[in-house]
Amino acid sequence: MNITHLIAAITAQVPMPTPDPLGYPVPAILLQILSYFTLGLHFIAVNFTLGGLLYLIWTKLRKGDDGVQKYLSASLPLGFSYLVTLGIPPLLFVQVMYGQMFYSSSVIIGAFWILVVPLLILAYGMMYLNKFKKNAKPNTQLIVLGISLLAMLTVGFIYVNNLTLSMTPDAWLAKYAANPAGSQLNHEEPTLFARYALFMSPALVVAGAALVLVGILRSKWRGDDSGNAISDMGMKGHIIGRALTVAAAGGLAATLPKETFEAMMAGPGKLFLAIGIVLAVLATVLVIVGAKKKMVLLPITGIVLMVLEVIMLVASRDFLRQEYLRPHFEFGHVPIFEQWGMVGIFVASMVAGLALLIVLTVKVSKNAIAKYKETHAA
Ligand code: HEM
Repeated sequence: MNITHLIAAITAQVPMPTPDPLGYPVPAILLQILSYFTLGLHFIAVNFTLGGLLYLIWTKLRKGDDGVQKYLSASLPLGFSYLVTLGIPPLLFVQVMYGQMFYSSSVIIGAFWILVVPLLILAYGMMYLNKFKKNAKPNTQLIVLGISLLAMLTVGFIYVNNLTLSMTPDAWLAKYAANPAGSQLNHEEPTLFARYALFMSPALVVAGAALVLVGILRSKWRGDDSGNAISDMGMKGHIIGRALTVAAAGGLAATLPKETFEAMMAGPGKLFLAIGIVLAVLATVLVIVGAKKKMVLLPITGIVLMVLEVIMLVASRDFLRQEYLRPHFEFGHVPIFEQWGMVGIFVASMVAGLALLIVLTVKVSKNAIAKYKETHAA
């Protein structure tokens, strides 16, 4: 029997591991809600940081600071720490809800999956280097930021490879048989690049909206129009980002298996997708009008709507995953052995952690604003 026959023979059955015999500690719906909320926040932080990095590199390349480089250089390590912190809860949820699929795909692309850790350290380290070596030569700064960007983009790509593979168990055995060492990605997946583009392009959208706000506040506090160039750049980037996201969504719709997409649209996924799109349109209108009229409240409301938008889209992403997995796995297959005490401890620590994060962010922002106003008072 040659290798092709062997692969064909073993792929005839899908080796779906059984769910954890301990079952779910609460009904799946509660796990879903918590995972959508925390993963939505993770994506916002990823997009803010990646987008900030892109805008910083852009301003350095065109040698026009507009006063934004200092703000971005200081914000990037902070944004990175948020994206890591906010990545951990969804990591716990994906292991509880889809553990047997997520572990299998992680093993099959194991060599790349383990690379995520050094790449994260590299990306984070380079952001700090950029922050503290303010007087480095411009080309050195660009190299440092370029390495950080490349590392972040690679981490995102590895995540998309792992998540798509976790949703397609039919591909596992052949891939494992062909490369048991795990030095492979999921490049056969038809949706791979469109899906990657769909997750990366909102970087310009989210960071663009933040820059619109920064520009308006700068002009307000200084009593001049020195922030206009920043908010203009943010608005243009926001619009370009939205256009890229729409193109990527079109690419994804064109490559998704038709029946899977239709099944998702026949269920609650459609409602979440529709709400997400409406919120996206509203958020973008508010960001653009805010940038034009220089009204602080508009981009702030736009950003809040954008967070809700991402949470809705994360929900529809998960309903799509459920359709991908339906022949092999459903939440209903997993027994529930309720442990409300554990859930209570989790929710209490999550609320306390988020409250602490908000208090610290407000404190740090207040100090930074006071310092900024003091420096520019004269
Ligand atoms: C440079 C840093 C990072 C980038 C660019 C990034 C990007 C992404 C992307 C694009 C996805 C979606 C993949 C897909 O659905 O196809 C994703 C999902 C995810 N990320 Fe991140 N990520 C980063 C860091 C992290 C870290 C440090 C953690 C954990 C501590 C994390 C936890 C997760 C989890 C758990 C999911 C999937 C959850 C689910 O499917 O329910 N990420 N990330």
